[in-house]
Amino acid sequence: MWPFSRKVRRQLGIDVGTSSIKIVELEKEDNYIKLANYGLIEDSDFFGEITNGSSVPSGLKISEGDVSALIKQLIDKSKMKTDTAVMSIPIFSSFLTVMELPNLNKKELENAVPFEARSYIPVPLSEVVLDWMILPHEESSIALKPEETATGVINRAEKITVLLIAVPKEVVSKYQRIALGAGLKLSSLESESFSLARSLSGNDQGSILLIDMGARSSNLTVLYKGFIFMSHSADLSGKEITKVIGHSLNVDTKRAEELKKGSGVAMAASDKGLAQVIGPFVDRLVNEIERVESIFNKKENKKIDKIILTGGTANMPGMAEYLSKKLGVVVTIGNPFGRIKYEPILEQTLRRDLGSNLSVSIGLAMRGL
Ligand SMILES: Nc1ncnc2c1ncn2[C@@H]1O[C@H](COP(=O)(O)OP(=O)(O)OP(=O)(O)O)[C@@H](O)[C@H]1O
Ligand SMILES: [Mg+2]
Repeated sequence: MWPFSRKVRRQLGIDVGTSSIKIVELEKEDNYIKLANYGLIEDSDFFGEITNGSSVPSGLKISEGDVSALIKQLIDKSKMKTDTAVMSIPIFSSFLTVMELPNLNKKELENAVPFEARSYIPVPLSEVVLDWMILPHEESSIALKPEETATGVINRAEKITVLLIAVPKEVVSKYQRIALGAGLKLSSLESESFSLARSLSGNDQGSILLIDMGARSSNLTVLYKGFIFMSHSADLSGKEITKVIGHSLNVDTKRAEELKKGSGVAMAASDKGLAQVIGPFVDRLVNEIERVESIFNKKENKKIDKIILTGGTANMPGMAEYLSKKLGVVVTIGNPFGRIKYEPILEQTLRRDLGSNLSVSIGLAMRGL
């Protein structure tokens, strides 16, 4: 074959988080994916505070134009080569739910899903972009290929489970404007749970709970056979831990961040002051995990096989070990580089220091490569 006819594709994955912008450039060559470049802006404050204890967003704190400019700066500075990008939509801006329907054929489902979706989605359908997929059952051939199994006759004894994803059109337009302003071609937009599932679960067919512990919230996503069965945002944030440490120990934000990152869960046990602050946070997280597990167990009659942590707050010393002991289940910090080649010299930086921070952007850049 002509040596220069190799198909090389590049794509950017752009994750605009609460406290950071993370961009990864991946390159597909033959059968493997390679890390071509990455760049981060961290420790900023792009989104507003969580309002009234709920996860209702108060929106971007800086203008869309400024987000575009920061993205452009990062791309130029890091000398990224492509202008094709996939961007993530935060869980708090998207709506994911699971509904049961009779085992209709594909054509019937195209009408039935939007019809049924109206009772699950809290806003008019005309205001959202709606997507859906059929989730696997134990006898997955029925659920995965309804067009092959359905007869056109509704069999009410046989249900299928459908994952609904709705994103407000206004949110989609906002990201389209941000991409345009940064001079990018947006090839896709997706809810960040999908990016995490792609970068962290590999080919694992078991039940996995992914927990993205960020600056503004912790997002819990249950995967089974690689499909998302549940995803929601809990009001547990890295920012909140820093704030409470600052107030209770009467130290400034910088010192509070240092204490959080240096001592974490492990040291807090022997430090009464810190234990009083970090303990309740971890206990709330444990409660939230147990709640999610019990919903999944009731609905699907399955247990969670393992927990994968990601996001900056997952790096809190002792967190994975503590949760594992408390819940009696394997808890690890996710490795988004499992299926990606990179220069060996980057091993320490990527695996030890940046892995959890880049999980979303890597998953985004992997999409369709
Ligand atoms: N070693 C560490 N120990 C404890 N917390 C840490 C550590 N490293 C980073 N963090 C915290 O992680 C948070 C940032 O995480 P991340 O980059 O995942 O957030 P984000 O993507 O910007 O936010 P979100 O996903 O919530 O919108 C900050 O609160 C930071 O203090
Ligand atoms: Mg994040």
